[in-house]
Amino acid sequence: MESIKAQRIPYSQIRVVFDRARELEKQGKHIIHLEIGRPDFNTPDHIVEAAIKALKEGKHHYCPNAGIPELRRAIVEKIGDEYKLEYSPDSEVIVTNGVIEGVYLAINALLNPGDQILIPDPAWLNYQHITLSNYVDPVPYALFGENGFQPDLDDIEKRITPRTRAILLLSPSNPTGSVIHPSLVEKIAAIAEKNDLLILSDEIYRKIIYLPAKHLSSATLPGMRERTLILDGFSKFYSMTGWRMGYVLGPEKLVNPMLRYHQYVITSVNTFAQWGAIEALKGDQSPSVNMVEEFKRRGDYISSAVNQIPGFRCVKPEGAFYIFPNIQETGMDGFQMSYMLLEDAGVATVAGECFGKYGAGHIRISYSNSMDNLKKAVTNIRAVMAE
Ligand SMILES: Cc1ncc(COP(=O)(O)O)c(C=O)c1O
Repeated sequence: MESIKAQRIPYSQIRVVFDRARELEKQGKHIIHLEIGRPDFNTPDHIVEAAIKALKEGKHHYCPNAGIPELRRAIVEKIGDEYKLEYSPDSEVIVTNGVIEGVYLAINALLNPGDQILIPDPAWLNYQHITLSNYVDPVPYALFGENGFQPDLDDIEKRITPRTRAILLLSPSNPTGSVIHPSLVEKIAAIAEKNDLLILSDEIYRKIIYLPAKHLSSATLPGMRERTLILDGFSKFYSMTGWRMGYVLGPEKLVNPMLRYHQYVITSVNTFAQWGAIEALKGDQSPSVNMVEEFKRRGDYISSAVNQIPGFRCVKPEGAFYIFPNIQETGMDGFQMSYMLLEDAGVATVAGECFGKYGAGHIRISYSNSMDNLKKAVTNIRAVMAE
């Protein structure tokens, strides 16, 4: 029997595509996977070696709830260098089981039932579902392709009510691939200050970004460190999705309540994996930098190729590894299109509707696949659309 809380969480529609793709593969059909939200690169060897070394050295046991001190120090040093901000490794950082745990902790520990949180739409749907199951109301603010998927300040301000407690920023974005312009981050920070809102800043893709786009964290703006929670992790830039490693950084007044939840839900994150994460932060960055260059090459190719398919309109990605073409001119919705592409073109994508109501009439294509496969996918899609 399900609790009323569980009933508030729908099953993810993204699974429908995965399951059908697997079924088709079992029948012998070749599928090009462009639905996947993870880098198609393995974790760099030196990171793997560091975790193996930790295992061999007997680092097998529980560690402090917030994570091993060495990793906490490495995180605050890295962010200190890059953002010119100081955080205490003892009270202002928690190593989490991926960014997803950070989001879960923030919604549980910092918001009350009946509060509202502004979340981008389209966006990674987990925000909405974690929020709903906690009786916090997600209030979507709309992002439109015509506007480069940039937040609209008037729209945000209009949606603020006496119940609004927080705004979530995601940049670069899953699924749009866009990066919020620094000038808009500044203006959103001013809105947050004026209305006494927290900013939950999901920065998981911040290093998968293509010049001239520039990432600005609201935490670095004057006075904003105190109201910004940085949610970041290792999954994407270091290709460590299966390691389940992330962290939250923020002022003690925000991080401390989250630690109370974390200690009972997770205890502490996998100890030897944390030694790998230290190596990720301190060791050779070139495998990740090379991966980003490869993503840029693919993103440039796929966005321009998809734009030439009649009925598809696509914004050039500025970061992450997704494009989010608008397919409304074909007369289909996102579900119909992704279903057809899977069945007839052998290309798996995700319907834009899976990312919120403003994602309707789009599909998400992940270009985390080889250039050869991207080219084949475009050829197949063109052929199906021509029919
Ligand atoms: C925007 C966004 N935030 C967070 C996550 C989850 O990351 P993690 O693997 O660190 O839990 C994802 C994963 O796809 C994501 O796209």
